[in-house]
Parts: sequence; C-alpha cells; structure tokens
Amino acid sequence: MTERTLVLIKPDGVKRNLVGDIISRIERKGLSIVALELKTASDEVARGHYAEHEGKPFYPSLLEFITSGPLVAMVLEGHRAVAAFRQIAGGTDPVEKAVPGTIRGDYALETQYNIVHGSDSPESAEREIALWFPGLAG
Ligand code: TYD
Ligand code: MG
Repeated sequence: MTERTLVLIKPDGVKRNLVGDIISRIERKGLSIVALELKTASDEVARGHYAEHEGKPFYPSLLEFITSGPLVAMVLEGHRAVAAFRQIAGGTDPVEKAVPGTIRGDYALETQYNIVHGSDSPESAEREIALWFPGLAG
C-alpha cells in the first residue's frame, strides 16, 4: 500500500510562515518527502490542478488565489499516503469539518484559505504529480 500523494502548502500557508510547521507534521506522521519545490503556479497549471471544479461558483477566486504567490509543492510517499495526509490536513471547511489538531483545524477560518491541498485518491495523485513534477511521473 505504499502510495504517493501531491501536497501543496498554498500561498496563504507560505505567507503566514507555516511551512516549517507543516513539514514537521508530515515528518512526524511518518510520510517521506520525495520531491519539494517552492514555485508560483501558472494559470495553466492552476486550471489543470483544479479542473474538477471548473464551473463552480468558487472556481474563479480559487484560481486567482492559488496563483497569487509562491507555494510549496511536494510529493509525499508512504503507507496509505493519500488518506494519511488528508487526515492530518483536516476537512475542507476549516471550522465546520476540520478538527483541532489538524493543519486546517488549527490554522484556518475560511474554506478558500485552508492552507494545504492533498490529492483525494491515488488516481488524482498520479495526475497531479505529472502536472507539478513532470520529471517524476510513473
Ligand atoms: P475540494 O477539492 O472540494 O476540497 P479539498 O481541498 O479538501 O480537496 O475544493 C478545493 C478547494 O477549493 C478547497 O480546498 C478550497 C476551495 N473551496 C472553496 O473556496 N469553496 C468551497 O465551497 C469549496 C467546496 C472549496
Ligand atoms: Mg480536492
């Protein structure tokens, strides 16, 4: 069950200096970082990343936000990595769903500014890894 997952520390997490804390939580959980890069998402990568949300009311502001500044993109590996990272991230709505002790539950108030992204399935992870780290796919 060794899997890979694509994680982003979104621009809000970088601006708020949460990179070290979030990496520390990932390491404490036991997940391995196999790729990591600070980058600013192009409009093309942002659209590819959030393609499933095209047409939804929050999609335009989501694209604007995710391209608004530097983010940290990572590939994590480990046993059930997809679910394990989503567990430590917490639910999408950082107040109604994410509980204290999770990244979103501890640090976020608004759904749009929920600090991190984690792939939602191994299939999404493969697609997202190919998008963010073209040299690493497979
Ligand atoms: P989604 O894939 O549903 O959540 P998750 O990041 O937990 O997989 O949505 C992608 C991002 O879109 C979410 O992290 C924050 C933003 N978003 C909103 O701004 N408003 C919303 O109502 C939803 C559902 C998501
Ligand atoms: Mg999602």
